Amino acid sequence: IKRVTTHILQKMKLDGERISMLTAYDYSMARIFDDAGIDILLVGDSASNVMAGHETTLPITLDQMIYHAASVVRAIKRCFVVVDLPFGSYQGNSKEALSSAIRIMKETGAHGIKIEGGEEIIESVKRIISAGVPVMGHLGLTPQSIYKFGTYAVRATEEAEANKLIADAKLLQEAGCFAIVLEKIPATLAKTVAESVDIPIIGIGAGKYVDGQVLVMHDMLGINKDFKPRFLRRYLDLYNQIYGATQAYINDVKTKDFPNDNEQY
Ligand code: KIV
Ligand code: NA
Repeated sequence: IKRVTTHILQKMKLDGERISMLTAYDYSMARIFDDAGIDILLVGDSASNVMAGHETTLPITLDQMIYHAASVVRAIKRCFVVVDLPFGSYQGNSKEALSSAIRIMKETGAHGIKIEGGEEIIESVKRIISAGVPVMGHLGLTPQSIYKFGTYAVRATEEAEANKLIADAKLLQEAGCFAIVLEKIPATLAKTVAESVDIPIIGIGAGKYVDGQVLVMHDMLGINKDFKPRFLRRYLDLYNQIYGATQAYINDVKTKDFPNDNEQY
């Protein structure tokens, strides 16, 4: 199997081949996604929400991210694995950012890190890249700044914020990022960004004119019953399927149907 590299991802953009990306947080799911041929797995700090049940991504720690990432890396043979630097592990200064990135690379075997923000964190981005660690940017809706925004609404609908986003994307490219995630911004703005930089742009709620798409696995599989934003396409209804399977199991136990004569020693 030929491993996905930053070089291959760059070539996909040039060839117009869309990049597929999903989040993963554990060994068993990562194994399925990698076997199925996903290009990138993101160990997102959305683990704070979907794995730990927090309301925001802020509480998850670097140690917890490392636990999830190491589990994912143990499963994969082909895909490129990116790990989010969690809130509080890089904002202090570029030295802190680098040491967090190095811990992730050393302790998990992942292939790169993702970091939220543009101009504000550019020194950290440069320092991490100069250590040889591939960095993915993340602009638009950046959930670690949720209390600054106040809502999870679409970002950069006003010209000033749109212009800053385009400038930030160019800065991230100049700093050496291998790709950028754009979250929840107008499709036309995402198109402008994808055409303004040479590195792959991966969208979530950023429309179809970008170089790849990413979704949170729990959303895409329909595990989160009530999360139905417009940008989401659900490929399974796992909440109801697991709910039904659980009820069937409970019923079989209560009625003494399970285990039967063949299911015992
Ligand atoms: O943490 C996450 O899941 C993410 C994606 C939404 C891009 O950052
Ligand atoms: Na994230």
